[in-house]
Amino acid sequence: MTNKTNKWFNKNITYSLKNKNILVTGASSGIGLEFSKIALSKGANIIMAIRNLDKGNKIKDELLKINPSYNIKIYKLDISDFNSIEEFVQSIQNDHLDIDVFYNNAGIFRIKNKLTKQGYDLVFGTNYIGTYYLTNIIINYLQSLNHKVDLVLTSSVTGLVFRVRKDKLMDDKCSMMKMYGRSKNALLHYYFYLLDNLSNSNIKVSLVHPGACYTYIIENGYKYKWFKKLAKIFMNVFLNSLEVGSLSCFMALSNESGFYGPSRFIKLKGYPRKMKIINRCIRNYKNTINLTNELLNGK
Ligand SMILES: NC(=O)c1ccc[n+]([C@@H]2O[C@H](COP(=O)([O-])OP(=O)(O)OC[C@H]3O[C@@H](n4cnc5c(N)ncnc54)[C@H](OP(=O)(O)O)[C@@H]3O)[C@@H](O)[C@H]2O)c1
Repeated sequence: MTNKTNKWFNKNITYSLKNKNILVTGASSGIGLEFSKIALSKGANIIMAIRNLDKGNKIKDELLKINPSYNIKIYKLDISDFNSIEEFVQSIQNDHLDIDVFYNNAGIFRIKNKLTKQGYDLVFGTNYIGTYYLTNIIINYLQSLNHKVDLVLTSSVTGLVFRVRKDKLMDDKCSMMKMYGRSKNALLHYYFYLLDNLSNSNIKVSLVHPGACYTYIIENGYKYKWFKKLAKIFMNVFLNSLEVGSLSCFMALSNESGFYGPSRFIKLKGYPRKMKIINRCIRNYKNTINLTNELLNGK
């Protein structure tokens, strides 16, 4: 960590990470990996839920080289596939895994005309439908644990810009950016639905966004090399570093339930703070949940 971030961390992160069991989806890259590295260095145990076990084991070996006493577990999870989600939840139940934090971070960005195993648009199906399906199943298990659990969802500034349609969740004809933004807007809606439903439970729900930082999601999202190079320089210089982008979840853990992310430069840059969600971004959130349940019930 840079000195500046270290100072910020010590001042703002009051959540004690020592011996906390943190389940992170998408821990194999970008923000999820950076978050895991920081959490491990502060004494947390990390459970990585990732789709490629070979990649996961290599990452685990690298992390153990930094500190052989790090406690890292790896589970297979493809969040775009309901069967994989069900197998994953079954495995953690069989292992009686203790979980203090469930950080829903996995996501994809600009991918066109690809479908999930169950036939949904891959971006919407991964970012929103998979997250919804996984979270809804895992909640029963989290509620059975005899202590407080933090459940964190990941949205994006695009989720504040684009809106889920009122009549149907997915629209084949929309642009890749719109599909991504709508998937992140749907997560905002899901956050409000969970707030309504989990207020009297042991689960505290939060929503985070990392601002903008150059990761594989951006690298993979654009075709032209010159554009990627330019984006990398621009984002590293003017927007967030990976380190700062990965702090929002720590901020959420240290504070009351809310939406946490950077607030500078149209919410793309800076250290995380509590953010306001404008009412029009979450209007019809119950409708979105009804549409999701209809879709999942095969209607
Ligand atoms: N970077 C930004 O500027 C930015 C801005 C706003 C929001 N976000 C959000 O932040 C989160 C993390 O993104 P990132 O920037 O760190 O991107 P990243 O480096 O591409 O990381 C994405 C992670 O999600 C995993 N993933 C993707 N599809 C999956 C699937 N079907 N099943 C399981 N895991 C899957 C990836 O696994 P593999 O390693 O196997 O590919 C990877 O570990 C995403 O939700 C993204 O939407 C990022």
